[in-house]
Amino acid sequence: MKEETPFVFGRIADTKNFTDRETERKRLYQNFQSLVNTIIISPRRWGKTSLVKNVAQKVTVENKDIKICTLDIFNVKTETEFYVALAQAILQATSSKWEELADNAKQFLSHLLPKISFSPDAISEISFGIGWEKQTQNVDKILDLAETIAKAKNINIVVCIDEFQSVNEFANPQAFQRKLRSHWQQHQHVSYCLYGSKRHMLLDIFSNPSMPFYKFGDILFLEKINNAVWGKFIQKRFRDTGKEISKDDAKMLAELVENHSYYVQQLAQQAWLRTDQICDKSIIMDAYEGVKNQLSLLFVGLIESLTNKQIDFLKAIVSGETALSSQEILEKYKLGTSANVIKIREALLSKEIIDVNAQVIDIQDPIFKIWLKTDYFKIK
Ligand SMILES: Nc1ncnc2c1ncn2[C@@H]1O[C@H](COP(=O)(O)OP(=O)(O)OP(=O)(O)O)[C@@H](O)[C@H]1O
Ligand SMILES: [Mg+2]
Repeated sequence: MKEETPFVFGRIADTKNFTDRETERKRLYQNFQSLVNTIIISPRRWGKTSLVKNVAQKVTVENKDIKICTLDIFNVKTETEFYVALAQAILQATSSKWEELADNAKQFLSHLLPKISFSPDAISEISFGIGWEKQTQNVDKILDLAETIAKAKNINIVVCIDEFQSVNEFANPQAFQRKLRSHWQQHQHVSYCLYGSKRHMLLDIFSNPSMPFYKFGDILFLEKINNAVWGKFIQKRFRDTGKEISKDDAKMLAELVENHSYYVQQLAQQAWLRTDQICDKSIIMDAYEGVKNQLSLLFVGLIESLTNKQIDFLKAIVSGETALSSQEILEKYKLGTSANVIKIREALLSKEIIDVNAQVIDIQDPIFKIWLKTDYFKIK
C-alpha cells in the first residue's frame, strides 16, 4: 500500500490538512451567510484559496439554500473571457446535472445563443453566438445572471472570484470595474467574495476612494498562521502517522520558512519522509537544504529574468538596508537615482518578488531570500 504523507502543498489544504484560521473562518462564514461582500488579500501561498474552499464546503453542507460559485481568473486575459467564465461558473454552481445547466442557459441567457459542449468526465463548456459581447445588454445579462437565477430559484448565491488581481490586466480595468460594481451593488440575493495576491494593487482597487470598488465590502488581510499553531499541527500530523517530533523542533521547522503556509507543509513533508521514528534537528536541517537545493534552479531562472539594477536592489534588501533612497545606499549598491529606485520597486512588486507592508520591504519567498543571501550574494 502506498504510504500517504501527512502534509500537502501545491494542493488546497482541506479538512485534516487544514489548520487554524478560526477567526477568519468564522468571519467569512458569517459574511457568506448574511451576504456581505468580502475581499481577501494576502501574498502568494499563505492560504487564501484553502480558506475560501474550507468555508465554502461548510456553508454548502449546512445551508441548502446557499449556493457557492467559485471561479479562478488567473488565466482569464480579457473582459470577454471573464464574462464567459463567470456565466459558466454560475450555471455550474446552480445546476446539478448538465441537462439542467443547458436548460438554465437557455432560460436565462437565450439572447446569447448559448451552446454547451460536454463530455462525461470534463465539465461542460459554454460558448455564445458570434459577436454577442458587442451588445451591452448581453453583458448586462451575464453580470446579473447570479441575481436572476437566485431570484428564480429562491436561493442565495455567493460568487467567489480567485486571483482577482488579474482584472488589472484587462484593456480598460477602471471602466470594467465600474461596470461590475454598478451591477453587483444592486444584487439582493447574491454576494461576492473577491480575493487574490498583489496586495498593493488590490488595496488600490478596494480602498482608494477614487476607484469604483471603494467600500465594496469587508476587507480581510489574511495573516500568516502563527508559529505555535504550526508547532501543534506538525506534531499532531507526525503522531497520527506513528512518528514523533518535539513541539520545539516542530516550531523550529516552521520558523525556518518564516511560517509561510506552503513551505511549512513542504518542509514538514520532507522531514517526515526522512524520519524513521523520531524527527530531530539534524533531519530538519537536512530536509531544509534539500528543499532549498531543489528550488535553486527555479531561483536561478528567476534571477535571469531580472535586470542588473533589480538584482542590486535585492542585494540591498537582503543586506538589511532600509534607507534605499539615501545617497549612500544609492552609491553603495549602484542603484542610480532615487527615481530609479521607485521604478525598480514597482517592477519587483508587480512581479510579486517583494512585498511592502507599512513601508517595510520584504522578499516574499522566504527560501528565495535565504538563497539570495547565502548562495547567491554570499553575504556573511
Ligand atoms: N489553513 C491551512 N492549514 C494548513 N496548510 C495550509 C493552510 N492554508 C494553506 N496551507 C498550505 O499552503 C499552501 C498554499 O495555500 P493556498 O493555495 O490556499 O494559498 P493561496 O494564498 O491561495 O496561494 P496563491 O496566492 O498562490 O493562490 C497549501 O497547499 C497548503 O499546503
Ligand atoms: Mg490561491
